[in-house]
Amino acid sequence: MPGQKNPMSEADAARPDKAPSAGAAPQKKIFIKTYGCQMNVYDSSRMADVMAPEGYVDVSSPEEADVVILNTCHIRERAAEKVYSELGRLRDLKADKVSRGEGLIVGVAGCVAQAEGAEMQRRAPVVDIVVGPQSYHRLPGLVARAGNGGRGIVETEFPVEDKFASLPAPERRKTLARGPTAFLTIQEGCDKFCTFCVVPYTRGSEFSRPIARIADEARSLAEAGVREITLLGQNVNAYHGEDENGRAASLGTLIRTLADIDGIERLRYTTSHPRDMDAELIAAHAEVGKLMPYLHLPVQSGSDEILDRMNRQHTAEFYLDIIARVRAARPDIALSSDFIVGFPGETEADFEATLTLIREVGFAQAYSFKYSPRPGTPAATREEQVPEELKAERLQRLQSLLNEQQEAFNKSCAGRTLTVLFDRRGREPGQLVGRSPYLQSVHLDHAPAHLLGEIADVRIEAGFANSLRGRLVASEAAFV
Ligand code: SAH
Ligand code: SF4
Ligand code: F3S
Repeated sequence: MPGQKNPMSEADAARPDKAPSAGAAPQKKIFIKTYGCQMNVYDSSRMADVMAPEGYVDVSSPEEADVVILNTCHIRERAAEKVYSELGRLRDLKADKVSRGEGLIVGVAGCVAQAEGAEMQRRAPVVDIVVGPQSYHRLPGLVARAGNGGRGIVETEFPVEDKFASLPAPERRKTLARGPTAFLTIQEGCDKFCTFCVVPYTRGSEFSRPIARIADEARSLAEAGVREITLLGQNVNAYHGEDENGRAASLGTLIRTLADIDGIERLRYTTSHPRDMDAELIAAHAEVGKLMPYLHLPVQSGSDEILDRMNRQHTAEFYLDIIARVRAARPDIALSSDFIVGFPGETEADFEATLTLIREVGFAQAYSFKYSPRPGTPAATREEQVPEELKAERLQRLQSLLNEQQEAFNKSCAGRTLTVLFDRRGREPGQLVGRSPYLQSVHLDHAPAHLLGEIADVRIEAGFANSLRGRLVASEAAFV
């Protein structure tokens, strides 16, 4: 349902798999718990990668671990409080371990670490290391210092050096590929400063990786069996990485380069800003077959007054115009968005304007949130805060419209044949689950096990609120 399967919420994406053994070195164990957006999921795998050469293997619970890292998110209300209560549990665990003569190093990474800095250790002395998103390549050194009794280790500067360049080279990365789909961060940070948002403060200003490095990483993912790559960035379509001539290349150009890599069958990107949907990117949707017909383009509100106060730098009409251009390029594109209800000063008329925009566009799915004041952002101190009950009521009305649209879109797929990339087992025995080009979950009963990790044609038999069900088109099965 919109707003309930949102990747920004407490994803709890604890890393389930174990990294391969690190040879003869004594094995140490690390548990990384991930909250928040896909960029954090990506960063967690990179932290595991950087620790692997030090002899650290992944484990799936803090009880088993020598080092626990909480990779945190700051986007939601009480985000920091939730981290502190998790740290309370780790304090008890550490005391237990110490009483058994064992140790535990506790690190906090991610956006809460960046926002709170040294304050974390004052409030939670169990914390040995506070490390911001730009410093993960320094993690082995920080863990070693903590292991030697170092205290008060805080790394939350935005160093000039490129963290991506300092992370291990692709061929040394063992944990990167964990199945047929992967995230690849191509851009970090944000210069937009929407008045409700902490990201420009926690992730710093925009930075784009060079095309050649991204292409190397994509090739190594392809070799490891990845079929679908989702390019990540807080503002992914503001991408302007260097090409081989040292000139800034756009996301459209990068997508064309990556589409040439054998083995990579599908490309996606998230999250985009309406102002950065340029002609080259829109043309890529028309011309690059591997670019999936799905676009997550947050609009936040349909009221120009509210968009202005949010500093979104676009109007509702501008957004609708972009949507029209994208649809002209790729008529079947599935659209997704983010919405905030109850931004300070939002009137009933402003809210209705958002509903009108939703009706006009027709979304295949969406995420929606009640406005929550984030300390340090301009909107948090505005006087006209909307009462909680009104926010809840508007969110409910908004979500019931979005739910209707999502279900209608899913039902409209019945009878069609869609290519599905099977990336996980289902709950029922013999069931596989995959993703359609439009990012819907597709369930296939009595599925041949060898289909896991493969792309096949599926005839959709039924569409539901949150998923599709289909059967294999046996004669046309397209195994890649
Ligand atoms: N860079 C992306 C996403 C940023 S955070 C973008 O520009 O779209 C993801 C979503 O969280 C935002 O799109 C917004 O809808 C929501 N969000 C961010 N800050 C919020 C806040 N203070 N209150 C409620 N929702 C918020
Ligand atoms: Fe936040 Fe706005 Fe930047 Fe998105 S574009 S990360 S919402 S400031
Ligand atoms: Fe959360 Fe930071 Fe991502 S605040 S949404 S983890 S960029």
